[in-house]
Amino acid sequence: MNMRIVARLINLPENRGVRVETAAHPVLLVRVGDQVRAFEADCPHAGAPLEQGVICNGHIVCPWHKAAFAMDSGAVREPPALVGLKQYPVQVHDGVVSVGDTALCAEPTPLPHDSRCFAVIGAGAAGAAAVASLKRRGFTGRLLWIDREPNPAYDRTALSKFVIAGQMAADDTPALLDEAVVIHGEVQRLDAAAKRIELVDGRHFDYDAALVATGGDAQRLDIPGAVLNNVFVLRSRDDAARISAAAASATCAVIIGDSFIGLEAASALRQRGLVVQVVSRHAIPLAAQLGPRIGAAIRQLHEDHGVIFHSNTEPERLDGHGAVSTVLLKNGNRLAADLVLIGVGVQPATAFIDGVQKAEDHSLQVDAHLQAAPGLWAAGDNVTFAWQQHPTRIEHWRVAQQLGVLAARNMLGEAQTYADVPFFWTYHFDKTFELLGHPRHWNRLHLEGDLHHHDFIALLCHDDQVEAVIACEHQQAMADLSQRMQQPLGKAEALDIIRRR
Ligand SMILES: Cc1cc2nc3c(=O)[nH]c(=O)nc-3n(C[C@H](O)[C@H](O)[C@H](O)COP(=O)(O)OP(=O)(O)OC[C@H]3O[C@@H](n4cnc5c(N)ncnc54)[C@H](O)[C@@H]3O)c2cc1C
Ligand code: FES
Repeated sequence: MNMRIVARLINLPENRGVRVETAAHPVLLVRVGDQVRAFEADCPHAGAPLEQGVICNGHIVCPWHKAAFAMDSGAVREPPALVGLKQYPVQVHDGVVSVGDTALCAEPTPLPHDSRCFAVIGAGAAGAAAVASLKRRGFTGRLLWIDREPNPAYDRTALSKFVIAGQMAADDTPALLDEAVVIHGEVQRLDAAAKRIELVDGRHFDYDAALVATGGDAQRLDIPGAVLNNVFVLRSRDDAARISAAAASATCAVIIGDSFIGLEAASALRQRGLVVQVVSRHAIPLAAQLGPRIGAAIRQLHEDHGVIFHSNTEPERLDGHGAVSTVLLKNGNRLAADLVLIGVGVQPATAFIDGVQKAEDHSLQVDAHLQAAPGLWAAGDNVTFAWQQHPTRIEHWRVAQQLGVLAARNMLGEAQTYADVPFFWTYHFDKTFELLGHPRHWNRLHLEGDLHHHDFIALLCHDDQVEAVIACEHQQAMADLSQRMQQPLGKAEALDIIRRR
């Protein structure tokens, strides 16, 4: 193997990775004492430059969506990455660091022969993370992975940011796994007592262990005109393809609902040149999740780009001949609309499950190990699980993946509980807002930076304890905090981390 000199040990700091270009590929050098490891330099999730992330708690943490990799082996520890970093051989002689051209082999060690059949229903965030985890752990039994979408296991988060903006074809939405083999079919019944899955087309499968990772169905509106053409919801790649096609010939769009997805869609369609109006029951978007100051700053960002808000109201009906042309609001206003996007939340997709306790919102109630019934686990948007002793349901991509990994490990016989930090990101007019934690009981907001220029980091504290952090343009500090918040974190310590980054 060719070894190439890439650096001097003396030039490598211990607290961050250093990117070096070799003839073959860029590598990330990570130093611990006199030892150096070399990994692929770009995050396998979406290509972030890992030298801009942090080294913390023995992990390399990605700056963009906070995937974490073991710094000794590159093994993936936290999604959204579903595979580890390729590792390259390193030699250090007389303070000179050389790296080999060919990655070390990282094949999983197969577990002993397993005659069980595992079923994973749903090939979204949670299902794909679970399947990746089962493969990584060397599961040798039969694996049935089922989804009702024809080409599932893609990055749903790109739909509202890039596909409907016309920047990415729906078919180019990034895939979640290489070589994914998914059975195409819709599950119409899961009999938890009999451990049997029945598909709409009559096929049926018996399982030893199953994971329900079916996410949610976008809610529609029960008002006159809701079935007109060009009235959309956004959950799947097909939804996004239809919205993008309609947007190509539209001049004005109305978004019903000021959820993250509604606002991401407002940003995407506005950047495409449409007149965009957002109708909302609230005065300030996202105030319930982020508080009024940050919600108001996000609204201002939209208004600065020409989005028009109609607050404290809701639609009475949609009018049009064949296709929608007008939205009549309860406050009497009429809005012209060539397309309407309804973004008023999702309902957990669990109607097909028999013999399992469901919460009022139709989500599955699971124990601390994500188990809903003997042999049955659940993960993702469709589950209410115990987090910090509270029943919690969280609709975040990375949380769904974390839960999927946890469920997979427990299907294999472990007894893991969720001890991770929820993370969410959202993208509006080229600004990425990030949220760590799950704000619930906070009573103090401490702001560093400038909210109105969208360069800030805000601590949402319960007294002096950090409950959540929201930031824009502070990806490194957030990467650090994504690890530090795994333990209780006081405000003073958090500020120290932020000011050092
Ligand atoms: C447009 C959009 C943008 C988003 N952006 C972000 C973001 O930027 N950041 C973030 O943190 N979160 C984001 N989210 C939220 C995130 O995508 C969800 O939290 C996440 O997808 C939940 O994962 P899941 O596996 O529970 O469900 P899903 O990813 O929805 O996967 C569920 C799968 O189950 C399948 N399924 C359902 N019912 C059946 C059935 N009966 N039979 C067979 N298959 C079935 C579905 O076809 C689907 O493929 C976004 C969501 C959307 C819709
Ligand atoms: S690019 Fe690294 S986690 Fe997304």
